Amino acid sequence: MKLSRREILRYARTGLLLPAIESRCVRPRPEARLLPSLAPLPQPFQVPLPEIPLLKPVRTDSNTDFYEVTARPASVRILPAMDTGIWGYNGMFPGPTIEARVGRRVSLQLRNALNVPIVNHLHGGRTAPESDGYPTDLVLPAGDFPQSHMHDPMARAVEREREYVYTNDQRAATLWYHDHRMDFTGPQVWRGLAGFYILRDTEEERLPLPHGDKEISLLICDRSFDSDGSFRYPALDPSLRDAPGVDAQYMGGVLGDVILVNGAPWPRLEVANVKYRFRILNASNARRYDLALDPVAPLVQIGSDGGLLAAPVSHRTLRIAPAERFDVIVDFSKFKLGSKITLLNKADDGRAGQVMQFDVIRSERDESDVPAKLSDVAFAKPEEAMMVRDFDFSYQRGTHGWRINGQPFDPARMEARPKLNTTEIWRLNTDFSHPLHLHLVHFQVLSHSGRPGPYDAGWKDTIDLGPGQTANILVRFAGYRGRYVFHCHNLEHEDMGMMANFEVI
Ligand code: C2O
Ligand code: CU
Repeated sequence: MKLSRREILRYARTGLLLPAIESRCVRPRPEARLLPSLAPLPQPFQVPLPEIPLLKPVRTDSNTDFYEVTARPASVRILPAMDTGIWGYNGMFPGPTIEARVGRRVSLQLRNALNVPIVNHLHGGRTAPESDGYPTDLVLPAGDFPQSHMHDPMARAVEREREYVYTNDQRAATLWYHDHRMDFTGPQVWRGLAGFYILRDTEEERLPLPHGDKEISLLICDRSFDSDGSFRYPALDPSLRDAPGVDAQYMGGVLGDVILVNGAPWPRLEVANVKYRFRILNASNARRYDLALDPVAPLVQIGSDGGLLAAPVSHRTLRIAPAERFDVIVDFSKFKLGSKITLLNKADDGRAGQVMQFDVIRSERDESDVPAKLSDVAFAKPEEAMMVRDFDFSYQRGTHGWRINGQPFDPARMEARPKLNTTEIWRLNTDFSHPLHLHLVHFQVLSHSGRPGPYDAGWKDTIDLGPGQTANILVRFAGYRGRYVFHCHNLEHEDMGMMANFEVI
């Protein structure tokens, strides 16, 4: 049975699609599941950590930096003896890093040289709706592509290229950009459409934190490889042009068995015996990491999704869910020259239990410092909340779908209409684990099955809820009126329905 995309979408809404999907899959599994590689896995700690190149503006004027990026296929060397076809921003995976300054605009001209639609979202950005990368605001490929927008009358699809404007009117922070195409975000990010966007300001630069070559971005993600070196992914339609979704066994999320940092498998980094600042992003589709150093040393958190914390927080283990960012200081002066320190993932005991290695090879004077007070964090007050809203994030048995308040994503349905410049409390309830993300805003965690959890400090835009947890978050809706999404950032959950709209009015 072959359905057009339009039919699939229509049926998906009414639930009539079930028999069609059912016949193609083995057995639905709501837990994330390992997709083993068929290619031989490389030895860990053999290759250097790649430095992600900075993107240069094509021009600048008094208040704007203009960038151009083309999403295109490319072939890159990730495994030692095989090439891997990727889809990359400027053919790179991770994409080139964009560095922006608070108060200075960025114009990003995105061209589509792939044969599927793309959408760009600046994750953590306070962005006007027309530049936020709404999932149906497609940048269509060249040639004829069926213009299915899931019956979204507000869709702003364009052909081949579009400009995204980021005003950077927000705190300095580690943001990232990635694909957000309706129904296909999981496979498109898996193929490589993700990169860093670092927002800087003078407040942060005045602090004596490690910087320059002692400030390093780490994009961590897991992937699986086919026997020919290509990425393996259980898409129902590997061309990503027609039917969305994954084999039902993987609807809980796809886990890879190769851990990549900045696109290299289990790399190593030579360091001096001083403090380093690592901006860590979990860009995985579904994998959580419990990061820890071996031998044990603290991971001193100085920042979260939304920039610097008020004061540093020391962790032995740092749990990082998909889309979260943690800014941490590691002090290598505690180790003798010649030491090798492994960054572990204690959440896995197989090959995915290791991430990368640091080799302390040089002695240097350390001029950096981690001040006890980092930043003024001006949170809203819970008493200011105008509304309390409840959201339930759950698996709908029998439908292979992930739901918010019992409903699959529909661009036409508004789940909430907060007023501009007001504050609300959102109560989030989960069944399985879900890393939940709101566009436009940063929020404060008021409670997380009890008190705020150890990883909830500072401004967050993604909160990782474990199975059966409840969290109350305090959200201030500022910046823009318009339609935005909130969703689970397990990308398979997101693609399979766990997304909804809010409209700031
Ligand atoms: Cu990082 Cu809606 O996404
Ligand atoms: Cu989820």
